[in-house]
Amino acid sequence: MSEYDDAPKANSAPASQIWGGRFESGPDQVMDAINPSIDFDQRFFAEDIAGSRAHAAMLVAQNIISAEDGQAIDQGLQEIAAEIAAGQFTFLRSLEDIHMNVEARLKDKIGDAAGRLHTGRSRNDQVATDFRLWVRAAIDAMDGQLQALQAALISQADRHAATVMPGFTHLQTAQPVTFGHHMLAYVEMFGRDRSRFADARQRMNQSPLGAAALAGTSFPIDRHATAAALGFDGPSANSLDAVSDRDFVIEFLSTAALTAVHLSRLAEELIIWTSAQFNYVRLPDGFTTGSSIMPQKRNADAAELIRGKTGRMVGALNALLVTIKGLPLAFNKDMQEDKEPLFDAADTLSVCLAASIGMINGLTVNAGAMRASLAAGFPTATDLADWLVRELGMPFRAAHHVTGSLVKMAEDKGQDIADLSLAEMQSVEARITADIFAVLTVDSSVASRTSYGGTAPENVRAQVAAARRRFLDGAA
Ligand code: ARG
Repeated sequence: MSEYDDAPKANSAPASQIWGGRFESGPDQVMDAINPSIDFDQRFFAEDIAGSRAHAAMLVAQNIISAEDGQAIDQGLQEIAAEIAAGQFTFLRSLEDIHMNVEARLKDKIGDAAGRLHTGRSRNDQVATDFRLWVRAAIDAMDGQLQALQAALISQADRHAATVMPGFTHLQTAQPVTFGHHMLAYVEMFGRDRSRFADARQRMNQSPLGAAALAGTSFPIDRHATAAALGFDGPSANSLDAVSDRDFVIEFLSTAALTAVHLSRLAEELIIWTSAQFNYVRLPDGFTTGSSIMPQKRNADAAELIRGKTGRMVGALNALLVTIKGLPLAFNKDMQEDKEPLFDAADTLSVCLAASIGMINGLTVNAGAMRASLAAGFPTATDLADWLVRELGMPFRAAHHVTGSLVKMAEDKGQDIADLSLAEMQSVEARITADIFAVLTVDSSVASRTSYGGTAPENVRAQVAAARRRFLDGAA
């Protein structure tokens, strides 16, 4: 039996100063370990104080508190914000959270007027408001970083619009593509991630403030005024939903998880491309590490960590989905568990984006190695089959069969298909002419892929310009 299984015992702690009115004794010691959120929710002190200032100004405008009290509250809150920003504030776990720490300090400063600030609101709508403001700012920060990553990818694409490399399926050489085209594939992914963040931002931008504990309030508050003061599009329509909703956290985490998954694919490609076997790209020294024993090593540690950290970001999403699942309306203390996964995911995504931006900006391409690796794997076999269809009118399936025989012949001789003689080709299909050799080069292959969204250098250049317009406001 643990000591907590014993019958209630006297607890010497004084009754809580937060809600002590009806309590005879204070919280058990273990509550100090499980209950407070101040260790992490102090992170949104600025949002908490902004919300309180907006609320107090509204209370004055609505004649709910006096202008004099409103003035003292506002002045005190500004001083507290400065104290916290300067690291001169002592956070107390006994005061549980940022809301009570700020209010208690306000009371130190201005006395009983501080007690009027909480009129017509509750910590439930307060925390929902503060956290929305924080997540909204985090979305804006992610958008800026994602845009910077797109800019880095687009300038590599511009530089390498005609740099040929093998395109892969199943990680087997498939058809030649351009490195620029490959970079632009990621620009599209991160563009969708940005649009998901923007979409989540728009949906979350409603103010819970004034929903109070759960039912609204009998005071004549003006929720539209506080919403506008805090940059929200308006007040949320239902007070129960306002204090219960954590969709905005889940949407952030789900978009962050998907962004992380995209980053992990880019990271994995960098890891493959920097291996000695591929040697397609070189990462800047600042993003690689050496080995303490193997002097030749240049490990892509940053890329590996991005790939690895994806697990935590997916985990954060899962954690919050499970936390919210089955919670009855309205506020439950479970919801305090929304913050740490969100902060961790936001911090982790931010550092992963920063590392990705640095790696892509500093990446140098080994065009010779990319081209050399196109000598193996028959990357222009599809071009050969397409020629048979176009010039001889063969059905594609028949052309595929003929091409397969020619690939087999070249493979048996240890050659590329372009190295077969015309006579050898004609032994498989008599109508083949010497014109066919023109489509068997890597450069002619990529140049011919001019269908919309295809890999031809001229397409890539047009897509670089389009991507700048779509994602970078035309900036170079
Ligand atoms: N610390 C709480 C949280 O993080 C704030 C709301 C507390 N509300 C309450 N009724 N205990 O969610």
